[in-house]
Amino acid sequence: MSASPLAGKRVVLGVTGGIAAYKAIEILRRLVDAGAHVVPIMTDAAQHFVGATTLSALASEPVQTKLWNNPTTAIPHTKVGQGADLIIVAPATAKSIAAYRMGYSHDLLQNTLIATRAPVVLCPAMHTEMWEHPSVVDNVATLRKRGVQIVEPEYGRLAGGDTGAGRLADPATILDIAERVVGPADLTGVRVVVSAGGTREPIDAVRVIANRSSGKQGYAVATEAVARGAEVTLVSTVGLPTPAGVQVIAVESAAEMQEAMERAAINHDVIVMAAAVADFRPVHAASGKIKKGDGVPEIVLQQTPDILAGIGARKRNDHVLVGFAAETANLVDNAKEKLERKRLDLIVANDVSASGVGFAHDTNAVTLLRPDAKPVEIDLATKREVARAIINAVVDIRNAR
Ligand code: PMT
Repeated sequence: MSASPLAGKRVVLGVTGGIAAYKAIEILRRLVDAGAHVVPIMTDAAQHFVGATTLSALASEPVQTKLWNNPTTAIPHTKVGQGADLIIVAPATAKSIAAYRMGYSHDLLQNTLIATRAPVVLCPAMHTEMWEHPSVVDNVATLRKRGVQIVEPEYGRLAGGDTGAGRLADPATILDIAERVVGPADLTGVRVVVSAGGTREPIDAVRVIANRSSGKQGYAVATEAVARGAEVTLVSTVGLPTPAGVQVIAVESAAEMQEAMERAAINHDVIVMAAAVADFRPVHAASGKIKKGDGVPEIVLQQTPDILAGIGARKRNDHVLVGFAAETANLVDNAKEKLERKRLDLIVANDVSASGVGFAHDTNAVTLLRPDAKPVEIDLATKREVARAIINAVVDIRNAR
């Protein structure tokens, strides 16, 4: 299984005093799950919103709050920051952002931020008026120029029943960006297009032929590719949250996906077909709704074009072409046949009849097959872990050229 780049990293999680402080608990949990050693620091204000005991219970070591009389070290103002591989501040209030910009080291978190050479990920959260205030805009812009990674807040519900820009970014997004900051940037400058989800082929104005693909595996591949520095386009039939930094092209039918993927193949270096494309579609789609009273309709099907095989036939030497094989029997033999016939560099074979594998699950188990390398088996793992193994193989193929 491929570990997260956060595994084994010492991550300081700074929590400042805003209503979104409760979400720091979820961020902390995800960091620990990724294998990071998490050192939480809370400001005094943060402790009005969540209890230090809660964070201590979930973190790798107890929460630190004090600059003076700190029980863990006599010199906390430098020790914590010097030992960090990464510092995340979530949520970051307007006050903490201003202090950081000024180097105003009045508490343990601010001392840690200026006594470190580790990368810093700052996740602002505040009311819209504050987020849009010129002083905050200016402070954020200055920190960004200094190389601080800013995770933009989202639009949504805020404290006091207000709605607007300023809600803390989703914990999953914050983790993705943290992984990107500490992980290898081995796809920098590489353009990757990934298809995701199942196509829907119209029968009439309201009915479609569809399949069970949720798009999760394709989105995980896109998320991993962007984390490794790639410029990523997702050609998607589903409405999952867009991974930060990824451009999404929404499509529905096999014909729309074919058009988008063929166009993308022209200016992308790596092409990954994770989508479940319908193999058959109705010859004629009725323009209105077929009425039940008219009897059971006879729907004549025709084969859809094989998008991947078409791209394979016109593949450039510098392309890396990745397909999937969804099988219920003879996994490796069937996948090998597709690998050769569609002129692929890599095929990801999943036995979708196995428990926890394939369609709609959060997990997958796959065999990676290449024309010139031994098969690699990835036992049941999260789709993100599977994506990491796929991108590792893509990097390996590019490096071998
Ligand atoms: O989306 P999830 O819920 O996360 O599920 C993930 C998944 C099961 C959809 C994914 O892991 C997967 O297996 N995707 C490929 C599904 C599929 O269509 O497999 P296939 O063996 O029928 O097709 C082989 C390859 O040809 C695939 O890369 C497919 O995208 C491509 N194809 C198929 C038919 C067609 N008309 N055009 C194509 O390009």
